[in-house]
Amino acid sequence: MSVPSFALGVPSFALVGAGVIGRHHGSVMSRLTDRLRLTAVIDVVASRAEELAEARGGRPFTSLTDALSNEQIDVVVVCTPTGHHGTVAIEALEAGKHVIIEKPAEITVEKTDEIIRARDKAGTLVTVISQHRFDPSTEKTLAAIGAGEFGRVSSGIAAIDWWRGQSYYDSGDWRGTWELDGGGALMNQGVHTVDLLVAALGRPVEIFAYAGTLAHERIEVEDVAVGVVRFESGALGVLHATTSAYPGLSARLQVHGDRGSAVIDNDQLAFFHATPAGEDIEERLMGTTRVTSGGGDETASSNPGALSDAHRRQYLNFLDALAGNDRLRVDLETNRQSIAVITGAYESARTGRPVRLG
Ligand SMILES: NC(=O)c1ccc[n+]([C@@H]2O[C@H](COP(=O)([O-])OP(=O)(O)OC[C@H]3O[C@@H](n4cnc5c(N)ncnc54)[C@H](O)[C@@H]3O)[C@@H](O)[C@H]2O)c1
Repeated sequence: MSVPSFALGVPSFALVGAGVIGRHHGSVMSRLTDRLRLTAVIDVVASRAEELAEARGGRPFTSLTDALSNEQIDVVVVCTPTGHHGTVAIEALEAGKHVIIEKPAEITVEKTDEIIRARDKAGTLVTVISQHRFDPSTEKTLAAIGAGEFGRVSSGIAAIDWWRGQSYYDSGDWRGTWELDGGGALMNQGVHTVDLLVAALGRPVEIFAYAGTLAHERIEVEDVAVGVVRFESGALGVLHATTSAYPGLSARLQVHGDRGSAVIDNDQLAFFHATPAGEDIEERLMGTTRVTSGGGDETASSNPGALSDAHRRQYLNFLDALAGNDRLRVDLETNRQSIAVITGAYESARTGRPVRLG
């Protein structure tokens, strides 16, 4: 990897896309001023770039090209509509920059592969935001699986029972389009929970799904999708993603093994049981356990309003990796597997057949 130009100081960041999540990144960066400096804010709508730069620092620009030729930039953060992620990230990589890309990396596996090739050529770091990987509930569950404390992990469920009003889809002309959103409930809203299911169950190899647009108008993509996934290990998973569940419930991950199980509901451990190595499980003819909110270990619970903290934790991992003190915990390859599951689900829903994932 090239020697960072900020070897003696803090890295300079450029933020591209000053919309809903771009403003959130601005807020995260303003709490990390000892670790980074925001030097440029770019948005094709000049007033958005100006407003965010005024609030969080940096110079406003309407194109990344202008920002790159006028400012010293080490890291480019991509917060544009999903279908523009590849173009922006590749421009940054060709200029030799490190990149943080909002989820999902791109709308197809092929476009994600183009970013992977540009990263390999640049030799710089690229992370994709998957902030829920950094929730204490997720960390505790994945650590238990890694330590064998769930035994043979045989099934899981990723469920997103959310509500998005018609006004949400009408709020941006890219929302709900195949070209720029890349999908609906499963791709935009569900990708986080699909990513956690993949992290827990391993490499997905086949998917079968149905999808429909049942409760919204003027959108091309699905507002309900259900599917089943087979994993390389033999484990089986269920997907349920909807933006049509009024008034909006939770994002939920269930993971089950023959020595332990976890239920994460809205980032909190609602249930957790693991059997440490060397301990026997209690032999039971049958078992049922009530799942109650707060049933997990308090230390593993995250703050419910902690969207910003989860992003901050992922920024810290990126900054530590940049300084050579940690490994990048979420890379393009990680996110590519979730994009493969989701685009495979769409192909299956279109063709009525199971789809094998390469
Ligand atoms: N991690 C999360 O929890 C989370 C939450 C929300 C959104 N997102 C992701 O963030 C991305 C943006 O979503 P959003 O809700 O902020 O959208 P948004 O429409 O609110 O903001 C996008 C901004 O990008 C600007 N833009 C468009 N094309 C551009 C370009 N080529 N160069 C510079 N600016 C450009 C638009 O003018 C707009 O201001 C999406 O990929 C979405 O999936 C992630």
